[in-house]
Amino acid sequence: MSNAFGKIFQVTSFGESHGPCIGVVVDGCPAGLKIDPKKIADDLARRRPGQILTTPRNETDDFKILSGLVDGHTTGAPLCFIIPNHDVDSAQYEERRFTPRPGHADYTAFIKYAGFEDYRGGGRFSARVTAGFVIAGNIAKQLLEKIGVTISAKIIEIGGRSEKMMERIAEAAESGESVGGIIEGEALNIPAGLGEPLFDKLDAELAKALFSLPAVKGVEFGSGFAAARKLGSENNDPYEIQNGKVVTKTNNAGGVLGGISNGMPIVACVAFKPIASIAKPQETLDLRTNRPVPLKIEGRFDPCPIPRAVVMVEAMMAIVLTDFALMGQVLPKVFKRQ
Ligand SMILES: Cc1cc2nc3c(=O)[nH]c(=O)nc-3n(C[C@H](O)[C@H](O)[C@H](O)COP(=O)(O)O)c2cc1C
Repeated sequence: MSNAFGKIFQVTSFGESHGPCIGVVVDGCPAGLKIDPKKIADDLARRRPGQILTTPRNETDDFKILSGLVDGHTTGAPLCFIIPNHDVDSAQYEERRFTPRPGHADYTAFIKYAGFEDYRGGGRFSARVTAGFVIAGNIAKQLLEKIGVTISAKIIEIGGRSEKMMERIAEAAESGESVGGIIEGEALNIPAGLGEPLFDKLDAELAKALFSLPAVKGVEFGSGFAAARKLGSENNDPYEIQNGKVVTKTNNAGGVLGGISNGMPIVACVAFKPIASIAKPQETLDLRTNRPVPLKIEGRFDPCPIPRAVVMVEAMMAIVLTDFALMGQVLPKVFKRQ
């Protein structure tokens, strides 16, 4: 079971949706970084449930820092963050234990962990654990700021539509349905030269991190799948000099060539599927008898992952880019005390 990723900037996730807390350990953060907790809280607020058109589960997401920080500065020791779970209601999950939700991980978890999995609220498969990713991502953003790198993400479409997107979620929810969508993440001012040509390709590692978010079904860089339908002359990005710097006139590569950053914006589009838990009646199997049974999900769920996932896309990009920036030694190892 792998709950950690990153080579130098290592992120380890722990906790379950209905356990006492969820959290994250961030190891390898250089000493001397002044952490602004307000920035962490602001990113957590963007991910938080209990807002309009999200699950009614209401969590305040107040985090505690247990280690690695003295006088507001990182010490170089592992940073440990926890967020207590308050608004937990596991009753629905107890009843549904042997009747897996189609589209969710209930069945695969049941098989893999032989019935010992924490099935309450989706356990480790719940998007709740991504609060830890958002904290780690914010630390990474605060580090990347030091070299002028900025990361942002925006919603491209929801339920196949790029206008009146929030209305699309409301329509789906009203009819007991859910919808997915696409988020575009962009990293600016990434120095050219980060990444490796084969197994640690920058785009491959970014894709792995983005696919680690729940409900992600596709990741593409630059022209992505559309490149397969273009001519070489249409897809190649011609070089030119701007302000004394080598740039490309177009960015079909999405900022990565041969697994290595080329200095252009890194642009990744991430496709999320519709939420599996829907209010509409469905059919499933009772795994004790293998007979079909009706399924009516009464719990609390999001009608669409997209609004809360924007900050998660930023977080995963920031974590990976920080790791590569530390490997490429473009981030300071030590910050001097003022
Ligand atoms: C922001 C966000 C919120 C989510 N909320 C729910 C939810 O309320 N109910 C649900 O069934 N799935 C939800 N999911 C998706 C599941 O966690 C995910 O589909 C499930 O773990 C199966 O994994 P997979 O879709 O990656 O295969 C959410 C995903 C995200 C990104």
